[in-house]
Amino acid sequence: MEQRKRSWTKWITCITILISFWSCAKGQFRYSIYEEVQEGTVVGNIAKDLGLDKTTLKERGVRIVYGSTEPPFTVNQDDGILFVNRKIDREEICDRSKVCVIELKTVLQNPLEIHHVSVEILDVNDHAPNFPENVSILRIFESILPGAKFQLQAARDADSGLLSVQRYKLSINEHFRLEVKDRGEDRKTPSLVLEKPLDRESVKSHVLLLTALDGGKPPKSGNMTIIVNVSDVNDNPPVFNQESYSVFLKENSPVGTTVIQINATDLDEGSNGEVVYSFGKDVDARARELFHLNSVTGVIVVVGDIDFEKSARLEIDIQASDKGTATMTTDKTVVINIIDVNDNTPEIEVTSFSHALPEDSKPGTTVALISVKDSDFGLNGKVICYINQDLPFLLTPSLQNNMYSLVTKHLLDRELHSQYNVLIVAKDAGEPSLSSEKSIAIFLSDVNDNRPVFSQSPYTFYIFENNAPGKTIFSMTARDQDEGSNAHISFLILRDKEGANMLTSFLNINSETGDIVALKSFDFETLKTFQFRVAAADSGAPSLSSNVTVNVFILDQNDNPPVILYPVRFT
Ligand SMILES: *[C@@H]1O[C@H](CO)[C@@H](O)[C@H](O)[C@H]1NC(C)=O
Ligand SMILES: *[C@@H]1O[C@H](CO)[C@@H](O)[C@H](O)[C@H]1NC(C)=O
Ligand SMILES: *[C@@H]1O[C@H](CO)[C@@H](O)[C@H](O)[C@H]1NC(C)=O
Repeated sequence: MEQRKRSWTKWITCITILISFWSCAKGQFRYSIYEEVQEGTVVGNIAKDLGLDKTTLKERGVRIVYGSTEPPFTVNQDDGILFVNRKIDREEICDRSKVCVIELKTVLQNPLEIHHVSVEILDVNDHAPNFPENVSILRIFESILPGAKFQLQAARDADSGLLSVQRYKLSINEHFRLEVKDRGEDRKTPSLVLEKPLDRESVKSHVLLLTALDGGKPPKSGNMTIIVNVSDVNDNPPVFNQESYSVFLKENSPVGTTVIQINATDLDEGSNGEVVYSFGKDVDARARELFHLNSVTGVIVVVGDIDFEKSARLEIDIQASDKGTATMTTDKTVVINIIDVNDNTPEIEVTSFSHALPEDSKPGTTVALISVKDSDFGLNGKVICYINQDLPFLLTPSLQNNMYSLVTKHLLDRELHSQYNVLIVAKDAGEPSLSSEKSIAIFLSDVNDNRPVFSQSPYTFYIFENNAPGKTIFSMTARDQDEGSNAHISFLILRDKEGANMLTSFLNINSETGDIVALKSFDFETLKTFQFRVAAADSGAPSLSSNVTVNVFILDQNDNPPVILYPVRFT
């Protein structure tokens, strides 16, 4: 370069001297050729343009001068034709924005003549627009509003003027349009303008093709792929995979039983899309005691005592939240229907009960009212009640549900059977069935339905004469099967009103003991036998009585000395 400059200066000096001495500089030619033309391409005919014939040209000789280096042109000595001797790249020798001219000098001898020759190198569209990068990645938050502008790198084209980048084209897409800012001097800067909001959840990245076109005919193009990577914003709440959750759970399910697994998904990315589960704020303490919700897996398990009888249906509010900085939460209700299990035995309750039943009660008399209860549901709680024994009692269902009355089947007799133990069985219709029993003791109360009965009938007594008056001579006994005062007997000698049997007036009876006292001494010799009646009456109300005949025979004692009827006579 340095060397070329120096020789250039040397030439200038020389030519200046030549001009001043011979005023040899005669004229100026201008040719033009396209760059990149083939070797040997004719630029112009110097001889013809100077008006020289072949012979003169031969005599004077012609050569061209171009600095110290070999010019890209050669002139034919025979015919004066200037042609290209190697490929010329305009962009290599000239500033792309200016007109590219190679200045030559044609030198003729005898006399010395110097002509200026300008060869303009015309631009050929031999360069395509070119982007600095083949791929450009843009990261844009999905929350960015339409109108936002994203500047892109401009394409360059080594060609000049119209052959440089003239316009840009963007592949058809629904989110962006192209805006190009013209800054003059072939500098056009493209930008993307957001027209329609982005949604990462719909499309994660958009691939666009930006094409730069120059003004050639046909135009050359350069492409750049633009990848719009849409960055996540926490704009989606978790969504449950079911519209509603409803499950059936057997009561008494053991601790650890899985009830249900709830599941929610969040379309967002990273922590914005990570879901945690929890009970809602309003979930009551009971639900928390019964169930545990795994915050990560969404599995609900039993941790308490599931009792259908306490609650047959539970509604639990649950929440799914994401872990985004501005957390989004979705609520849902899980309905847990408890299935009854036959875990309650029927309960028998005797609601009304007459403790002592009069033995003369009519058949059908109500002895007790029985109610049965079973906390279970449906068949598990449906109870039948019965008596398993052969007893004079019936269990009759009442109009009211689960109420029975225990009634007498027929007449009873306390003297035969004073107490009954009635075993009531209550059995539910569950599978397997549960039953319970209750024994009811029924005591019969006495009714004065038995007369006193003498131990003998009739009585026959033998007594010796000369009995001591006021002494008990014999005793009567009677029994009464009844009870208490109904069995309390008092004795009484029946005395004829007419006094036909005057003898009874000499007799007395102890009403309590039945002992009979003779008030006088009997004499066999005057009375050998007599008869009277004794009644025994109980103290019932009304009283019952019976009577008996008593036959008394007086026995002889040797109380008389022998009697000589004649001739001795005492008196
Ligand atoms: C640029 O892309 C367009 C459209 O796909 C295509 O027609 C053209 O040939 C591409 N240009 C280059 C230099 O690859
Ligand atoms: C887009 O961004 C995400 C997150 O920053 C990254 O994981 C992914 O590789 C990116 N994709 C492209 C095509 O750059
Ligand atoms: C004695 O008993 C008989 C039958 O047992 C009865 O008819 C009679 O009335 C009774 N006499 C008295 C005084 O109670």
